[in-house]
Amino acid sequence: MNLSTTFDPMAPDQTDDPYPLYARARREQPVFFAESLGAWVVTRYADIAAVARDTERFSSAGALESSAVFPDEVTAILRTGYLEFQSLVQSDPPDHTRVRNVFNKALSPQRVAALEPKVRAIADELIDGFVHDGEVDLIERFAFPLPGAVIGELLGVPRSDLPRLKRGSNAKQILLAGAAPPALLAECAREFVDLQRYFGAHIEARVDEPRGDLLTLLAPSDIGGTAPLTMQEAVCNAIDLLAAGHETTTDMIGNGMTLLMAHPEQLAALRADPSLVPDAVDEILRMEAPVRGLFRRVAVDTTLAGVALPAGARLFLLYGSANRDEQAYPDPDVFDIRRRPATPHLAFSKGIHFCVGNALARLEGRVAFERLLARLPGVRLHPTRPAERRAFIILRGYERLPLAWDAAPRETNA
Ligand code: HEM
Repeated sequence: MNLSTTFDPMAPDQTDDPYPLYARARREQPVFFAESLGAWVVTRYADIAAVARDTERFSSAGALESSAVFPDEVTAILRTGYLEFQSLVQSDPPDHTRVRNVFNKALSPQRVAALEPKVRAIADELIDGFVHDGEVDLIERFAFPLPGAVIGELLGVPRSDLPRLKRGSNAKQILLAGAAPPALLAECAREFVDLQRYFGAHIEARVDEPRGDLLTLLAPSDIGGTAPLTMQEAVCNAIDLLAAGHETTTDMIGNGMTLLMAHPEQLAALRADPSLVPDAVDEILRMEAPVRGLFRRVAVDTTLAGVALPAGARLFLLYGSANRDEQAYPDPDVFDIRRRPATPHLAFSKGIHFCVGNALARLEGRVAFERLLARLPGVRLHPTRPAERRAFIILRGYERLPLAWDAAPRETNA
């Protein structure tokens, strides 16, 4: 089998269970060029960790952008806002260091811990909406809205604005991918500029009326705020959180519930001892990394695992493969919530881009699994409505995840 032509995260067989192919790549061709991505795929734990740590040889600048050239009409619309997508995940030091320091404070363990009561309240409110029905599409009614509402809280925007923010964030993803008809690209450019203006206005308003939220912490010092950021950096990074912190977390919840449903003995252990939930969250992230992989660009001619890589080449760090590497974990395909591995998983990457939202993601995972298991007795995969995976290059998760449980009848006053 030729990995170069076979590897395709969008292919249905690789969407269902890509792990045998990853194992084969680790054994036979640990670094290979994938035509579907136009990038070199890195599959072994040690190589991925080495690339993630070495920001001199492997850059993140423009790592998520396509090389597509926009039609003039689209560029003209984007010029009315900020043309460039300047965000943390796509930057290198020294800019990265300066922006990251702001985010380290904004998402510090203390600030995240303070959000816990709110996260619990949102989770319970969502479950209240379907607990009596006995069945639900978990993605639509819980795993998608939960992290969306939590990011809204963190940023400090009204919940009623979330659909608008989501539209703008989706538009940005389509622009980044670049491969859409010109009319759609133009529509997305308008949505994206609208979102930039929305955040620009909110950030400016925080200068006169500071609140305890993230938009206040992002307000640039040159307009009277406290952050050593340009307005463009503040706006682009606020927008980036909508993508970085939303569907990643949705996928962790969906992947986790599916793993637990498929391993009744692990589910029983977790129900018997809820103190295992934090370890279970990390084992879920190891087994089914929501960020399957992310790109880097080779900064200077180099070699990796014996493969010559020219400057400018793109790499795809396959975190989902690193987490199943037999050199890093014994029995890597076994789901064991008591595993507590000596080697940390790479679901949040490593080095300077290590997920700055990891504490929040772990909190959301912990609360989600605790509340779902406590409130949905006998929860199981739906007997007739199958789960459907989402085809997407970067993220691995579910489009639909129907579940059923033994619902208590709704109380009535009749
Ligand atoms: C389970 C959920 C999540 C997963 C699996 C995840 C995964 C990741 C990964 C793999 C990276 C490194 C990207 C790279 O290779 O360069 C990253 C970076 C990042 N994540 Fe997360 N993430 C999650 C949740 C969140 C949340 C909740 C937030 C914030 C609300 C967040 C914000 C960010 C940001 C801003 C970065 C860029 C950090 C930097 O470049 O320094 N993430 N995340």
